[in-house]
Amino acid sequence: MHQSKVLVLAVLSSIVTLCGLGVFAQNKPEEPPPTHLRCEYLENPIGIDTPHPRFFWWIEQDGRGQHQSAYEILVASNLTALMQNKGDQWDSGKVNSEDTIQVAYAGKALETGKEYYWKIRYWNEANNPSSYSAAAKFSMGILSRSEWKGSWIDGGTTGGNEFRKAFTLDGAITRAQLYVTALGYYDVRINGRRIGGKVLDPAWTTYPKRVLYSTYDVTNDLRNGPNAMGVMLGGGWATLSDPSKHIQAYYPSPALLLDMRIEMADGRIVTVATDGTWKTTRGPILEDSVYDGEVYDARRETSGWDTPDFDDSQWTPAAVVSGSDGIRSAEMMPPIRVVDTIMPKKVTNPEPGVYVFDMGQNISGWAQLQVRGPAGAKVTMRYAEVLYKDGMINRENLRSAKSRDIYVLRGGALETYEPRFTYHGFRYVEVAGYPGTPSLNSLQGKVVHTAVASTGGFLASRQILNDIQEAILWSQETNLFGVPTDCDQRDERQGWMGDAQITAEEAMMNFDMAAFYTNFLRDMRDAQDPDGSVPPTVPHKYGPLHADLGWQSAYPIITWYMWTHYADRRALEENEPGIKRYVEYLQHNAKDNVLQAPLGPWGDWVALENTPQDYLADIWYYYDVKLLSKIETALGNSTEAESYQQSANQIRDAFNRKFFHSDTAEYSTGTQTANAMALYMGMPSSDDRPKVIDNLTNDITYYHNTHLTSGFIGIRYVMPVLTASGRSDLAYELAVQDSYPSWGYMLKQGATTLWELWQDKTGPSMNSQDHIMFGSVGAWFYQALAGIDQSGESTAFRHIRIEPQVVEDLKWASGSVQTVRGPVSSSWSRTPSSITLNVSIPVGSDAQIAIPVPSELTKEVVTESGRTVWKNGNFVPGDMGLSGAKRDSERLLFDVTSGNYSFQLQGQ
Ligand code: BGC
Repeated sequence: MHQSKVLVLAVLSSIVTLCGLGVFAQNKPEEPPPTHLRCEYLENPIGIDTPHPRFFWWIEQDGRGQHQSAYEILVASNLTALMQNKGDQWDSGKVNSEDTIQVAYAGKALETGKEYYWKIRYWNEANNPSSYSAAAKFSMGILSRSEWKGSWIDGGTTGGNEFRKAFTLDGAITRAQLYVTALGYYDVRINGRRIGGKVLDPAWTTYPKRVLYSTYDVTNDLRNGPNAMGVMLGGGWATLSDPSKHIQAYYPSPALLLDMRIEMADGRIVTVATDGTWKTTRGPILEDSVYDGEVYDARRETSGWDTPDFDDSQWTPAAVVSGSDGIRSAEMMPPIRVVDTIMPKKVTNPEPGVYVFDMGQNISGWAQLQVRGPAGAKVTMRYAEVLYKDGMINRENLRSAKSRDIYVLRGGALETYEPRFTYHGFRYVEVAGYPGTPSLNSLQGKVVHTAVASTGGFLASRQILNDIQEAILWSQETNLFGVPTDCDQRDERQGWMGDAQITAEEAMMNFDMAAFYTNFLRDMRDAQDPDGSVPPTVPHKYGPLHADLGWQSAYPIITWYMWTHYADRRALEENEPGIKRYVEYLQHNAKDNVLQAPLGPWGDWVALENTPQDYLADIWYYYDVKLLSKIETALGNSTEAESYQQSANQIRDAFNRKFFHSDTAEYSTGTQTANAMALYMGMPSSDDRPKVIDNLTNDITYYHNTHLTSGFIGIRYVMPVLTASGRSDLAYELAVQDSYPSWGYMLKQGATTLWELWQDKTGPSMNSQDHIMFGSVGAWFYQALAGIDQSGESTAFRHIRIEPQVVEDLKWASGSVQTVRGPVSSSWSRTPSSITLNVSIPVGSDAQIAIPVPSELTKEVVTESGRTVWKNGNFVPGDMGLSGAKRDSERLLFDVTSGNYSFQLQGQ
C-alpha cells in the first residue's frame, strides 16, 4: 500500500476515535507543546546557509477554536543552555502573533559550521502558555567563499575516477563536519565506510553558476591515528553530452571539492581538503552515464583502497583544476535516496540465456544483482518499461539511451552489485550472461528519487480513482531527481518547465515540495537568460531558448504557488525582480498588447485537437502579467500592482478582440483547451461566460462522447473549470472514464505510471510510459472530490474551504493534506437520505464548510457530533466552534474554527 493511503486511513481512524471518545475538552490546564518543528521547511537540517532561517511549528490540539496568541522562540549555541531556557543566540521574547509559520531568525549572526538548538512555546487564546517543545536543531554550512580550503580536483590525464587521501590525526576528536560537492556525482567513504544516505548527489544545477554542497557529521567516522578518505566520482549531468541533440557537456571529466573540518579536543581545527596531494586511479567503474548506465569490472576493485593501510604508491596525484567558479550553496532540500527495495513479481526465460524480471511496477532507480560465477563472467542488465508479445523487452521508446548496467564478476563467493552513478526508468530488467540460472531472489528493484515526504492522501469509493491516484504518486515521485523531470527513462529526463508548472499543485497536495521548489526557483533564476526569457528546461541543457510561454510561465506560476501554498514571502521577494524582467521581455515582444513572439513549437503539447500557438501564447502572456500584479500586491507594492493589473486588462481586451467569436461564444478554434483556459483565466465577460461553459460541456459530452481532447496544458484547466461551473458530474465522468482517451484507459492497458501520450504506443518515438504531466488531475481529486481548498486570497491554508463534490455514483471520498499549519482532512460518505462529513481544521486556521444538499432531499436537518446545528431552515447556535451557517440554493455553509467536526445531514 502506498504511504499516502496509510496516511488517510490513519487520519480517518484518529478522527473516528476522537469523535467516539468525545474528547473535545476545552481549556485544559496545560497546553500541549508545539510539534513538527521545521527550519527552512526541513527537519533538523544540517549545513544550511541561510543567514535568517525561518521556523515553522504545529499546534496539535483536539479542542476547537484554539489559536496561538503569542510565541517565544529560544535559539541556543548548545543543548545545555537550551535546556536551561537560555536563548544565548536568540530569545525572541514573548511575541504577540498568531504566526506559526515563516518566522525568521533574528538573533546573533549565525556562524560557519556551528550547530544550534531551538525550541518554542506558545500562549493560547486565553493567554495560557504551553510547555516548551522538544528541542530541535540546525547547523550551518560554510557561509563565505573565503572559508573554503579545498581546490577542485579531477583524475587528470589518467582519467582517474577513484580518489584517496590518507591522513593522521593526533588527539581526541570533538566534532567533524564534511562539506562535499562534485561536478557530477560523488560517493565518499571514510575508513572503509560509506558516508551518508544520499545517492546521485549533488543535485544537478547550472554548475558554472552554482554547485550544491552537502554537509555530513563525520565525528564518529574518524579516529585518533591514521585515517583515510576514498571518493568515487561519476560524470552525472556534468559530463553528459549528446551531440545529436546539441547537448553539451559542462566539463570534460567529473571533479571533486571537499573540506573536512575537524575540531580536536585540544582546540585545534584540522582541515582535510581536496588538493594536489590527493591520489587518483581508474577504479572498477569503466563507464558511467545517466542515460547509458554503468559498466563495472569487479576484478579491478582494490580491497581496502578507502582505508589507511592501503598502499597507494601506484596511484597518481590528482590534478588541481579550475572546476566551477560558481556560487557554493548548501543543498537544502530532501536528497535523492534509495527510498525502497522491491522484489520482482516474476521472472521469465523468453530465450535461452535471457531472463526477464518483472518488478510489477514502473519505477525509477536500478536493480541490485546477486550472482556467483567465474571471474570475468559478464552479466548485462537491460532496463525497459514494456515487453513485446513474445516476452522480450521492448526498448524502442528509450531512443538513444542505452539504459543498461554491465557487471564483470570478481569470481568466487556470492557477489552483490548495484550501479552508483546512473538511474533508469523501468518495470522490466533483462538479465543476460548470468552464470547458471537466476532465481527470483537474484535481483531486487531499488526505488530511487528525491525523497520528498508524503503529505497527502486521497481515497474514494470508485477504485479507478484510487488507481489513478496511485499512478500519479508513482509518476510524480519517479520524476523528482533534484529537479522535476519530464520522464525517467529515455535520453531526456530534463527539468521541463511546462510539465513542472502544470503538475506543481498536484505535487504540493501529495508531497512536501516546499524546499524542493525553493531550490528549483533558484535554479530558474540561475538559468534565466540576460534578455529576461526563461528557458524551457532548467537547468538548461536541452531544448531551444525562447520557447512556448507555457514552459516559461513556470517561473511566475511556481513562485505564486509558493505564496498560496506556504505563504512564502521570501520566495516572492527573491523572484519578483526576475519575474519582472521576464514580463518586460514579453512586453518587449508584444505589439498592441498582442504577443508577436515567441509563439513556440509545442502549444498544448500532445493534444488530440490542436489549439493555435498564438492563442496559447497570448493567454499565458495575460496570465503572467496578472500573476506579477498579484505578486506585487502581496508584497505591498501597490503602484506596481495597479500598473501590471492595467496592463493585464489591456492584454485581456486585445485577447478577446482577437480570439473570441461573439456569434458562437467560442474561443479561437473552440477546443476544450481554448475554452477551458479562457474560463479559468477569467477572459469572458460575465454575460458570455455561461455560453462558453455550454460550448465546453457540449464539446466534451456530445462531440466527444465524454472524452477529453486536450494535451497536457489544457487538461490542467478543464477539470477545475467544470467544477467551478457546477459541472463536477461531468468532470467526474471524465475522471472515471476508461475508454480511449482517458486516464482509466492507460490503467486498463496495464499502466502503473502515467503515459506521455493518450495513445497506447510503444514504438520508436516519444511515448514514455512515465510522464507526470497528465497527473495534474490529482489536484482536482483533493480540491473537488475530497473538497479541500482555500477560500479567497488565503495563503498557507489560513482560511480553508471544504466543499466536497458529492457526485454521481461516488459513495464516499476522503482526503488529507499536511499543510504547513497542520493537517487538514475531509471525508464524506452518503446514503440515499444522508450525508456524513468529517472534517479536521488545524489550529490557527478557520474554514467554511459547504455541505451539498441533494435536490431530492427536503426538510434537511444537520447535526454536528450529535448536536443539531441546522433545522427548519435555520442555524441552531451553541455548538462549540461553529460561528454561523447559511443556506444557498445547493448547499449549507457552516463557518468553523479549528478542530475536528463530524456533520451529518439528513432529510426526507
Ligand atoms: C518532454 C515533454 C516536454 C516537451 C516539450 C518532451 O520531449 O518529454 O514532457 O514538455 O518535450 O514539448
